[in-house]
Parts: sequence; structure tokens; C-alpha cells
Amino acid sequence: MNSELLEAAKQAMANAYARYSGFHVGAAILAENGKIYSGCNVENAAYPIGNCAEASAIAAMVRDGAREIREIAIIGGKQGRASAACMPCGGCRQRILEFAVDSTQIHIFTAAGLHRTYACKELLPDSFGPKDVAG
Ligand code: THU
Repeated sequence: MNSELLEAAKQAMANAYARYSGFHVGAAILAENGKIYSGCNVENAAYPIGNCAEASAIAAMVRDGAREIREIAIIGGKQGRASAACMPCGGCRQRILEFAVDSTQIHIFTAAGLHRTYACKELLPDSFGPKDVAG
């Protein structure tokens, strides 16, 4: 995996706005155009409307015209000390699927390094997605 991707995820995590949970998350996407898009979680006093890091990174990618997640690196944990793996939440698994291809790699990092790389279908088996709805 491109080390720039991990660095971008770490930098995004450093800017997480996680004042309520203290759980800082960063995500970085390598898109089909070769560019890297990153995002962090952005919480809100009205708790349910906070954004996950993956959603922020996907929004940046889509805004720039890219449409395919080749790789995504995710790192996070309490107060930025990601000792355990931060697995993407259910909603973010669905968000990643929207822009995934068969070869998409989802890299989960802890502070100690790479925890594991997953395929989208491992994280979201028997999924409902674009194949079911798009023409
Ligand atoms: N969070 C993410 O950013 N991504 C995930 O996939 C899991 C959870 C954030 C949301 C919230 O700001 C904090 O972590 C605690 O749930």
C-alpha cells in the first residue's frame, strides 16, 4: 500500500472534531484518478448529525469528480490513540460500497501499523447496492 495514503489518514485524524466522543478518526481514499482524498469525523452538539471520517473523505472525492475507491485507509481511536482497530461502522460500509469495485482494498490501521486489509464484500456480505438499483 502507498504510504502516502496512511500519512493522509493520520493527518486527517489529527484534525478530527470529536469533542463529544473523544474518538478521532481519519480516512484517506486513493481514487481512480490517482489522487488522494481524506476526511475526518466531524461531530455536532446534536449528536446524530455528526459525520464519520469515511463520509467526509467520500464527499471530498465526489466533489472533485472522482467516482471509484481503489483503496481506503482508516485509522482511529480514543483521543487519537488508535490502539485498537477502528472498523468502519455499518453506514460507512454501505457508503464505501457505493464507490467500490471488486478490487477495492479497505486497509484498517492501528497506531502500531496495518491491522488487516479487507475486500468490500467481506465487510458487507450479501449487500444491497448500486447493482440492485442503477441501470
Ligand atoms: N466514526 C467514524 O468516523 N467512522 C467510523 O466508521 C466509526 C465511527 C466516528 C463517529 C463518531 O464521531 C466517533 O467515531 C465515535 O463513534
